[in-house]
Amino acid sequence: MTIDVAFTPAELGGNAGDRTIVVIDVLRATSTILEALVNGAQAVVPVESVEAAVAKAQEIGRDLALLCGERDTKPIPGFQLGNSPLEFTPDTVSGRTLVMTTTNGTRAVALGGTGERCLVASFLNAGAVAEALRDDEQDLLFLCAGREGRFAMEDAVCAGSIVRRLVGDRPRRGMSDAVITSILLSRRFERSLPSMLRKTVAGRRLIELGRAEDVAYCASADRHDKVPVVRERRVTL
Ligand code: MLT
Repeated sequence: MTIDVAFTPAELGGNAGDRTIVVIDVLRATSTILEALVNGAQAVVPVESVEAAVAKAQEIGRDLALLCGERDTKPIPGFQLGNSPLEFTPDTVSGRTLVMTTTNGTRAVALGGTGERCLVASFLNAGAVAEALRDDEQDLLFLCAGREGRFAMEDAVCAGSIVRRLVGDRPRRGMSDAVITSILLSRRFERSLPSMLRKTVAGRRLIELGRAEDVAYCASADRHDKVPVVRERRVTL
């Protein structure tokens, strides 16, 4: 089994192949998807555009579907929910199918879902994801959503944290530089996740918009023991 990390979706080259893919968008899409499913949402359907989301919600039926997501980190006008994990309470999402479109995360989830097996990870379920991967003999790729095509530190730290739980702390021969970098970043920040998240570009943007609570929430490691999976463009537990 080989392990690699793609710091941005472009590195995947458009095809997940027969690898197991672990998609990560710590701030905030994969944290929010997990929170929604843990709180009783039936499924999350990631879509690329606002128009596609509206069409999908109509197809599913307005009484079952909820439109959610963000553009430029802000809620989308006309949608019922934004992209804050704190909005996805049992009262709001239980039994509903969420049609979600975000700038980076839902695209990465849709791309990762083209692979043999695709798991959705964040700090909130890092330990559970490592457990779910333990007996997997497929080659493994951590697919970081990044931010508008660029490296996002929080996703790399999260990838490193899961790799360390799987194979330990020491960089091994045969690991790519991306995996070694992720391990080193995770070692550097494991005891200061909240302050690390606050310093990232995405964290600073959320704080500027009054969403500091989201940043703190997304830093809470191992809050949940559930692992969302992507199959046929739907994310479920
Ligand atoms: C994204 O998918 O780009 C995000 O999760 C950004 C956000 O939460 O604002």
